[in-house]
Amino acid sequence: MKARLGVNIDHVATLRQARGEFYPRVTRAAELVIATGADQITMHLREDRRHIQDQDMYDVHKLTKSAGIPLNFEMGANEDIIDVALKVKPEWICLVPEKREEKTTEGGLNLKDPNTFERIESCMARLRTGIENVKISLFVEAEHETIKLCQELKPEAVEIHTGEYAKDFLENKSIQKHLDTYKQTFLQLENSGIGFHAGHGLTVESLRPLVEQSLFIEYNIGHALISESIFIGLEASVKEYLDVLTKRT
Ligand code: PXP
Repeated sequence: MKARLGVNIDHVATLRQARGEFYPRVTRAAELVIATGADQITMHLREDRRHIQDQDMYDVHKLTKSAGIPLNFEMGANEDIIDVALKVKPEWICLVPEKREEKTTEGGLNLKDPNTFERIESCMARLRTGIENVKISLFVEAEHETIKLCQELKPEAVEIHTGEYAKDFLENKSIQKHLDTYKQTFLQLENSGIGFHAGHGLTVESLRPLVEQSLFIEYNIGHALISESIFIGLEASVKEYLDVLTKRT
């Protein structure tokens, strides 16, 4: 079965915010991405609002709802962002760690820290109470103890942080250890009912070995896909990823 593609359109907003203009519009990007056949739109509303703004979440959610596909709302477990999520009511929420000074999300949730574990547990409870049928994924490293803690929290999915894998791939280093770890994590979660998603740093090239492995059922991809769209257009860029997922290339 083809894995699902979530297209993260944060960096369309990065370009818009660079000038404080109303263009490029994230809704236009979402419309094109949806029309090209992506399975979901992903957006990260960061605490510092450096790219996506609150209104973008409402506007894009309208589009995904009318297209019948999910909006995946990536967020840190911060009060201010929880309030927005409770109003937007997305179909999926991906909980991520967030530091203001980082360029991008630098790793998975540190669930081994009891304070983080509790914060995530209570955030999940609030989201579930406030948003009927919401599905929650936890952005984590593929690491045994962390995955065990995820199983206690019972999310609908884990999203495995592929940043280190993607970096090693780009630097022509061996990726085998990452692939082995993903396999072990997949087996650890087998029969748990927890979906196995992946994201971060992936390019059309580094996606291929993962698709060959056939473990992940969803990928969330943004920076490389939006970057390539500058040269070949957004539809063509989305298509490249869809082609890899359908093993056409
Ligand atoms: N998944 C998660 C949880 C993320 O935080 C991000 C970055 O916002 C992505 C996927 C997409 O990563 P990239 O933009 O590097 O493709």
